[in-house]
Amino acid sequence: GKEQRLIIVANRLPFSAFKGLAGDWKLQVSPGGLVSALTCVEGYSLTWVGWPGQFIEETERESLKEAFGKKDCCPVYLDADTTDLFYNGYCNSILWQLFHYIALQQEGTLSETETVQDQYEAYKRANEEFMKAVMSQYQEGDIVWVHDYHLMLLPALLKEEMPDMKVGWFLHTPFPSSEIFRTLPQRDDILMGVLRADLVGFHTYDYARHFVSSCCRILGLEGTLDGIENAHMGTITRVAVFPIGIDPDKWINELDTPSVQARILEMRGQFSGRKVLLGVDRLDMVKGIPQKLLAFEKFLEENPEWRSHVLLVQIAVPSRKDVPEYQKLTSGVHEMVGRINGRFGSLTQNPIHFLDCSLDFHNLCALYSVTDVLVVSSLRDGMNLVSYEFVACQSKESPGVLVLSEFAGAAQSLGAGAILSNPYNVNELSNAIAYALKMSDGERQQRHRQNFMHVKVHTAQAWGETFISELHDTHIEAALRT
Ligand code: UDP
Ligand code: G6P
Repeated sequence: GKEQRLIIVANRLPFSAFKGLAGDWKLQVSPGGLVSALTCVEGYSLTWVGWPGQFIEETERESLKEAFGKKDCCPVYLDADTTDLFYNGYCNSILWQLFHYIALQQEGTLSETETVQDQYEAYKRANEEFMKAVMSQYQEGDIVWVHDYHLMLLPALLKEEMPDMKVGWFLHTPFPSSEIFRTLPQRDDILMGVLRADLVGFHTYDYARHFVSSCCRILGLEGTLDGIENAHMGTITRVAVFPIGIDPDKWINELDTPSVQARILEMRGQFSGRKVLLGVDRLDMVKGIPQKLLAFEKFLEENPEWRSHVLLVQIAVPSRKDVPEYQKLTSGVHEMVGRINGRFGSLTQNPIHFLDCSLDFHNLCALYSVTDVLVVSSLRDGMNLVSYEFVACQSKESPGVLVLSEFAGAAQSLGAGAILSNPYNVNELSNAIAYALKMSDGERQQRHRQNFMHVKVHTAQAWGETFISELHDTHIEAALRT
């Protein structure tokens, strides 16, 4: 039969526009876990609705139309002011921080002329623009799948336009404890916006539980782990857990290509026989990069015999550069890297290789493969797909070790094979690194086997299929009730 039409709505399109040297517009793959996972969803007739990655003048939009069209992307253009207040402001200074347990600073991150209320007004405007863009694409029978904290008002806006639209919403970040969430000034509106979806999904049971208890305590609704009942409106919102994954075969197959094999040999030569610790993170406060650097420093301090036999490669993908907190973090970690390299470096070698850039698939694949220990030190993280990708790229015979923060969603799925650690405890993280570096072959293989099995089975494809089939069922049940 005809392929089911699926509209994916996320703030970040899989391709972002940037200006080439010649002044012409180009598209590049957007970084981040949301895009990585969603590009694996297949078997549908797909349309993406999202923001092209920066403000684009009205006069330039026509020239981008074809490029985005070819990628099945429908760009949502926002004016410069809205983009700033919505994306840098409400999304990334308020919601992102709060959802990762960084307490709201009373107006602390705002300039004197902006208020949270201005940011929230822009958030509403942006969600309305997204609604219009979805409506311009929508045909009866389409499934509309809305993603992440940028678009929490969108399910309600869509249902107002089209009450029997199939609408799902999935959160890629943690949902915090209701004690944290209730500090959000616009808590009622935000929850009610999401609750109009037919199905609401999270990575872990804890996040789903926090959402349900927030709805109960803040809105006074009845709820169980299966859903929230709104007697007043006669509706039920189904709540469920869908842990995301990756496309493991994409990584495994890439490893076998001659070009990646050549790159692996080259990297082994460049790392000159030293053990490689690796970090791959967007340069974001939730990733615990300073904590990782301090733990590595502690390790070097306490294990002088290791100093010339180990190095830490930290890929720090630039992110959200217009947000002041991210700017502070960038200069903070640069200073730290300089200090540690000054302290433990030699004439020809530095213990930390810190790269402010993104890597392409090819290089990332090779780098994962030559890594001995991946260190994920997130202070909070929805899932953390980097840990999955690393596991997919290890050999059975001599696998690397995963040191994983207990505050990443992945700790609940890869916890058995990883060395779990609390990144706030520098000593503990440093000991975890030491333990990982010295681990016996047998233990490494056995831990890897467990993780590999999980990554192989819980794929992004399966995640997408399960969510959509659940959304179908939920929608049918709802129709029967009315
Ligand atoms: N990634 C990327 N470019 C890079 C490094 C990483 O696109 O230079 C990808 C990486 O492969 C992974 C994603 O970014 O799929 C990061 O996802 P994760 O869930 O770990 O964290 P997020 O960035 O979504 O917070
Ligand atoms: C996280 C969020 C995504 C976001 C990504 C990259 O994974 O959950 O929604 O796309 O980070 O951040 P950015 O702000 O560049 O889209």
